[in-house]
Amino acid sequence: MESLISLVNKLQRACTALGDHGEESALPTLWDSLPTIAVVGGQDPGLFAFWSFQSDANFILQKELCGCRLVSRRQELISSGKSSVLESIVGKDFLPRGSGIVTRRPLVLQLHKIDGEREYAEFMHLPRKRFTDFALVRKEIQDETDRETGRTKQISPVPIHLSIYSPNVVNLTLVDLPGLTKVAVEGQPDSIVGDIENMVRSYIEKPNCIILAISPANQDLATSDAIKISREVDPKGERTFGVLTKIDLMDKGTDAVDMLEGRSYRLQYPWIGIVNRSQADINKNVDMIAARRREREYFANTPEYKHLAHRMGSEHLGKILSKHLEQVIKSRIPGIQSLINKTIAELESELNRLGKPIAADAGGKLYAIVEICRIFDQIYKEHLDGVRPGGEKV
Ligand code: GDP
Ligand code: MG
Ligand code: NA
Repeated sequence: MESLISLVNKLQRACTALGDHGEESALPTLWDSLPTIAVVGGQDPGLFAFWSFQSDANFILQKELCGCRLVSRRQELISSGKSSVLESIVGKDFLPRGSGIVTRRPLVLQLHKIDGEREYAEFMHLPRKRFTDFALVRKEIQDETDRETGRTKQISPVPIHLSIYSPNVVNLTLVDLPGLTKVAVEGQPDSIVGDIENMVRSYIEKPNCIILAISPANQDLATSDAIKISREVDPKGERTFGVLTKIDLMDKGTDAVDMLEGRSYRLQYPWIGIVNRSQADINKNVDMIAARRREREYFANTPEYKHLAHRMGSEHLGKILSKHLEQVIKSRIPGIQSLINKTIAELESELNRLGKPIAADAGGKLYAIVEICRIFDQIYKEHLDGVRPGGEKV
């Protein structure tokens, strides 16, 4: 089954190479039919900030919202920890993180499990350049963000495509997204609130998108932007995983047990609690391995969470997602298959239309996709031998 996920990854890459982002493209339906996992969450002062920062001297704005007074402070917003969660799943430090609006373009991240020891990363906009230093990957994400948006607080819907090859990952495609926000900050147009929402929605509204809805434990779930937008596109919660971050930052005397056990907000799948690195940890360069160990120890040794420890933490989240993705792909195989059949015919007529000789580059890519589709077709048939319609293994 692992080979199937990896094949889906290849297909996605092939589609993207053809300029298929779901807009003007030869294969929009193929791209749309493949599963991805997107990370959504707020980046916002919220009600928590009102309580937490009452003594903060830097208030610049006050607003009436749902009868509550919403106070945002300077330009530093409370992030939910989306990029940190993605990093933990990958087990590598490579994403820009921090307070404020750090993620300003969607990042489409493909993880490829490989044999051997070397790990490396490749950007689609820098073909054939292998990054082995992940600090440089982070820098390239920042630079490539700035190239599109300028060194501003602007956002852009144009995605950055990054592949990571490593023996220590599971095969997954993940999308990091800018945080949802309720107010524009200085240097941003007022339209930014709606712009981000539309951008996020364009990824998570696709029925094949698995949503990682990230909410910080030290904020009221009732005001969670992640929950709000996920419920809008997935009302039954069939493809939404609730992730609770910042459990370590809860006020003394409060805990996340009601949230983690689904009593505060019920989702179809169990909530998963996470303890990411704090900003102080980031500043001190606490590494991923130490952070994961500490996270494990945190859940195992905190009396309130001991009974939940086996289903908490970043490693557990990675495993759950991989398993879920496999099930989704399995159940979708017949659908993807018929799509691919149609696509082969379309591609072949496209090749005919282009005639020969064809431009080496474009032709090569088309042939590559035809080839991948054929392999997929073959795997599908092998798979069918062991599977009943409906996806149950015999
Ligand atoms: P994003 O804006 O949602 O992508 O959030 P980031 O991953 O950039 O994190 C924002 C800030 O919150 C960073 O300073 C992180 O160190 C901090 N942070 C995120 N998750 C946690 C957590 O679980 N515990 C603590 N203490 N800090 C966290
Ligand atoms: Mg981020
Ligand atoms: Na942030």
